[in-house]
Amino acid sequence: MKKMVLLASSLLIPLAFAATPKGNAAKGKTFFEATCSGCHGEGALGGVGPKLAGKLKKWTFAGFKKTLKENVTPDKRKLGPPMMKFNLSDQEYADLLAYLKSLK
Ligand code: HEC
Repeated sequence: MKKMVLLASSLLIPLAFAATPKGNAAKGKTFFEATCSGCHGEGALGGVGPKLAGKLKKWTFAGFKKTLKENVTPDKRKLGPPMMKFNLSDQEYADLLAYLKSLK
């Protein structure tokens, strides 16, 4: 029985980690420049949309995904236009977040 539990948990742990893909900041930068920087500015320094550089250091993947997908931030603010809902792949969210976290 103990062996079964151990086996089950050793199978589950890698699955739990696989749910959050590892972000690639270089790909995130390319995506950001094509899709977000028109509003959030070069290097996410702000424009029509708020500055994001240096502000997302503590954001989790889940919180960031919900912000883009549903326009609700981790501290429960509802974002309005011109911010839009972005339905992306988990890899794309992870890449964007890795890029934004890399900014000072
Ligand atoms: C058409 C303009 C526009 C585009 C394009 C846009 N945003 Fe925004 N974004 C905004 C505005 C304006 C706000 C603030 C909305 C509010 O406070 O109601 C915002 C808010 C945000 C916030 C919340 C910041 C905070 O904590 O207050 C994040 C994160 C964000 N945008 C990320 C992105 C990302 C990533 C992209 C590209 C995939 C993107 N945005 C594309 C205009 C835009």
